[in-house]
Amino acid sequence: MVVAVGQATMRAVVQDRYGEAEVLRPAEIPVPVIGPDEVLVRVRAAGVEQGVWHLMAGRPYLVRLAIGLRAPRTPVRGRELAGVVEAVGEGVTAFRPGDEVFGIGEGTFAELVRAKAAKLALKPAESTFEQAAVMSISGLTALQALRDNAKVREGQSVLVIGASGGVGTFAVQIAKALGGQVTGMCGPGKVDLVRSLGVDALDYRAHDITEGGRRYDVVIDIGGNRTLRHLRRALAPRGVLVIVGGETDGRWLGGFGRTLRAPLVSLFVRQRLGGLIASERADDLVALAGMVSSGTVRPVVDRVFPLAETADAIRYLRAGGARGKLVISVAG
Ligand SMILES: NC(=O)c1ccc[n+]([C@@H]2O[C@H](COP(=O)([O-])OP(=O)(O)OC[C@H]3O[C@@H](n4cnc5c(N)ncnc54)[C@H](OP(=O)(O)O)[C@@H]3O)[C@@H](O)[C@H]2O)c1
Repeated sequence: MVVAVGQATMRAVVQDRYGEAEVLRPAEIPVPVIGPDEVLVRVRAAGVEQGVWHLMAGRPYLVRLAIGLRAPRTPVRGRELAGVVEAVGEGVTAFRPGDEVFGIGEGTFAELVRAKAAKLALKPAESTFEQAAVMSISGLTALQALRDNAKVREGQSVLVIGASGGVGTFAVQIAKALGGQVTGMCGPGKVDLVRSLGVDALDYRAHDITEGGRRYDVVIDIGGNRTLRHLRRALAPRGVLVIVGGETDGRWLGGFGRTLRAPLVSLFVRQRLGGLIASERADDLVALAGMVSSGTVRPVVDRVFPLAETADAIRYLRAGGARGKLVISVAG
């Protein structure tokens, strides 16, 4: 289906080959064409998360099976978005032009993006486009890890490893909202940030997760590369471990090996061990929007970069600089 949007081309940041941020360049490209169940969104802000780097770099190599063996099949990166609906496909009834939305699209580092209606929700009126842009992938991941996988209950002790980043800043707040007694682990320069979210904070340079023999009911592992054996030592005898991520140099599987092994080990121990692959569901976006509207959860935006400086944003993220989330502003 071809939708008239009053312009044939748009500004975007594109890549023609896999690599580090140098492969990104500004370009003028055709406006995407939407299908019957899709929405064309004029992007106001786009979130930057580690997944952007994985797709840009084609690492671990396993991702290339899905997105192109020699070069990425689609040139525009970015999946988190907040913006205004420009046009809707003929099967879409949930949105109409002019609606302010947030969610997940395909190629959000651009003026216009196409997104499945089933991966969008109305933007909370209380948040800016920049705040809404960082909620979808990072927020959904944190919500599903704590509510669905760990099933955190009132009074449980929860350790969030990697608490100062995109997923982690949502995770500590959601764990607290579910009634958990939360400890967030992060680097030395971000302890203040994690404490400002209302939880205890531990610096991973100065402390080990097993320090003092403490055992947590729930461990959410988002950062670093601790072995399953090490993580289990911080877990109560019937505790739950959810592996969300962790950046490693593994070229083929990245840090995914632990996620594959965890359910196997889980068969032989009383602790429940598993990984998470977040599902991109609109009802969870609505749940997140509710948490943000009620003030239970606050998206943490560190810096906003203009579209032309997308490569700098990715370098900053990969250097470990981000306190919470980074945003690409596509306005103007
Ligand atoms: N499973 C899924 O569906 C899913 C979805 C989204 C993301 N992920 C994955 O989740 C991970 C985090 O993503 P993100 O966007 O939140 O990344 P991020 O913003 O870069 O945050 C990374 C976090 O890890 C912490 N960290 C780094 N080294 C650590 C160490 N040795 N010990 C403990 N913590 C350490 C960082 O702390 P400091 O910065 O304070 O040093 C920071 O809090 C990535 O691997 C990503 O691919 C998975």
